[in-house]
Amino acid sequence: METSNEKTFKQGDIKITISEKKSSFTPYNGYDKPKFYGRRKGRIIRKAKSTLLEAFLPKIKITKDSVFDKEKLFAMPVEKVALEIGFGDGQHLAGQAKNHPEIGFIGAEVFQNGVANLLSLITGIKEGAHLPEKITLEDGRVDNIRVFDDDIRLLFQQIPDAFLDKVYILFPDPWPKKRHAHRRFVNPDNLKEIARIMKKGGILRIATDHKIYKGWALRQVKENGNFVWTAKCGNDWKKEPADWVQTKYELKALKEGRRPVFLDFAKI
Ligand SMILES: C[S@@+](CC[C@H](N)C(=O)[O-])C[C@H]1O[C@@H](n2cnc3c(N)ncnc32)[C@H](O)[C@@H]1O
Repeated sequence: METSNEKTFKQGDIKITISEKKSSFTPYNGYDKPKFYGRRKGRIIRKAKSTLLEAFLPKIKITKDSVFDKEKLFAMPVEKVALEIGFGDGQHLAGQAKNHPEIGFIGAEVFQNGVANLLSLITGIKEGAHLPEKITLEDGRVDNIRVFDDDIRLLFQQIPDAFLDKVYILFPDPWPKKRHAHRRFVNPDNLKEIARIMKKGGILRIATDHKIYKGWALRQVKENGNFVWTAKCGNDWKKEPADWVQTKYELKALKEGRRPVFLDFAKI
């Protein structure tokens, strides 16, 4: 059951009213396979993308044997490591990795069609295109993306403490109904793991176009106690960050008249 009362969150020029709800969140016990509520498969994956999943994904896939060492996880040593959780169709992950060859990116996504789309973006092989004998990354890309094609909660325990410089959770499924609140990805269990695997000073970025999720995320992160919200004024969270790459869900939100917010939290 949830009980609610409202609280004003103040920081610099910012004033936001957050409903202070005690949620009926049930922690994941860490032993059974966690229950996943979204979609794993969608419309039929056609020839080019299914070939990419079969022939190319294994080259960049994270498995139980992957070594979480920034000298070894990617094709070359990297300066920093970032994780994007629920990368959807992969636009942000592919864009950030291209813009930052010095950073290694780990992307996690359960939805197979999304993973296939990311592979299409990074190899430049589109549906209907001629499939080369040997599939490689598109010209101008360094080999700095690794993909976990399953639920990130299954990977958390493999990631060492203080390993990541950045974590992105962009437009997570809002699960707006109260009775579905326990399904929201930004929750005490997941934040505890994210805080553990992030470096001090690292940035956790949560973007959402959902009113409820905005307050929910601010409250959950505050209650976690390992982060500070970096925003000092409206522009710091209502405007796209300088290094931003647009995502499919952001475009959908803008088209439907919803204004996204971009919440950056520094790990303390
Ligand atoms: C609403 S979509 C947003 C996709 C993308 N970030 C964007 O902005 O276009 C949320 C995505 O998170 C993925 N997701 C949800 N929970 C996940 C989990 N535990 N591990 C990995 N991916 C997850 C879903 O499969 C879905 O593709």
